[in-house]
Amino acid sequence: MKVVCLGLFFSAFVVLLAVQADAVNFSQSSSRALAYTPVDPVRFSGDTMIVNTKELGKNIQGYAGAVPLDVYILNGKVAKVVALPNSETPGFFANAAALLGSWVGLTPKQALDKKVDAISGATYSSEAIIENVRVALEYVKNVDMNAVGATSMTGDPVRNGFKKINVMSTEDLPAGFSFYTGDNGHGLLLCSGDKQNSNAMTIGWGSLGTLWGRRPTVTVYVAEKRYTREYMDKYEYFTIMHFPDNRVVDYMGTHSGRDGDKAQALGLHTLYTENGTPYYAEADLVIECRMMYGGEQFDPKYYRSDVPRKRYENFPAGIHFQYIGEVVGAWKR
Ligand SMILES: Cc1cc2nc3c(=O)[nH]c(=O)nc-3n(C[C@H](O)[C@H](O)[C@H](O)COP(=O)(O)O)c2cc1C
Repeated sequence: MKVVCLGLFFSAFVVLLAVQADAVNFSQSSSRALAYTPVDPVRFSGDTMIVNTKELGKNIQGYAGAVPLDVYILNGKVAKVVALPNSETPGFFANAAALLGSWVGLTPKQALDKKVDAISGATYSSEAIIENVRVALEYVKNVDMNAVGATSMTGDPVRNGFKKINVMSTEDLPAGFSFYTGDNGHGLLLCSGDKQNSNAMTIGWGSLGTLWGRRPTVTVYVAEKRYTREYMDKYEYFTIMHFPDNRVVDYMGTHSGRDGDKAQALGLHTLYTENGTPYYAEADLVIECRMMYGGEQFDPKYYRSDVPRKRYENFPAGIHFQYIGEVVGAWKR
């Protein structure tokens, strides 16, 4: 197996981080405040994406409380905005509701740029409508809207704003997995599952190489007690994602999916490749792999030095399992 990268500095850096991550994981603490959204504000009806502002806009006050909306997006454009039940004075709200058509036909970005004035005499309700539309569009503005609407969030990631790359090309992926070796500002996630259930975690160990012919492969190492391991043992495909966002990398590496949906807690949008493999819209690089070999735990009888022996002396997450996946697709933003 020809390993393209994985330098010493990477291993040392990651060992350190992973040890820390284990410590944090067991206490389940995190000092970072997260935009926690208990219910995914986005749902689909056929080809239409519907962004609900009940949670997103819960702090936006009209005259008598919150003014939740459903913002419908079809073929990359706002199709309609529908007011949901609220406690506004019906007469005033009927006037303000004239605004609901103001964004129709615009892309989320155009709609966010559009200045819409409140209706005089119904200022509070109007401003609450305008603000609810804004938070809904802010929530989805990073999803490529041209890609949304044809067949929901499943399909070639190119349709979701990614560009196909070749992991064997140093032009597309300079120096192989060079991003592995980055500083605290970024990192990798490993994700597995299907449309009903999926989970991801931060990874630091792994390699990109070739095996059994000129097949590009990704090898990852998942500790015995990781929730993600249960997915890796069950599903045929997995994705590796690069995130430039420290917040995502920290959270995914210090919380377990056993205790709640991490993607939802982070406000990430789960998309699916044509094989149905989950990945997140917010990643800037996605590598999809098909499992070639997996589920084998390191066997202490083959430890050839003190490195693994010492490593597992006091490691509550258990001995790692090795998984090798053939790269079947790669995309970047
Ligand atoms: C920078 C960093 C790198 C990590 N690398 C690995 C790794 O390569 N393998 C592993 O099993 N755990 C690794 N972890 C720990 C897991 O990401 C962490 O325990 C996570 O909470 C597991 O989530 P899960 O229980 O939902 O699978 C790493 C954590 C961090 C912060």
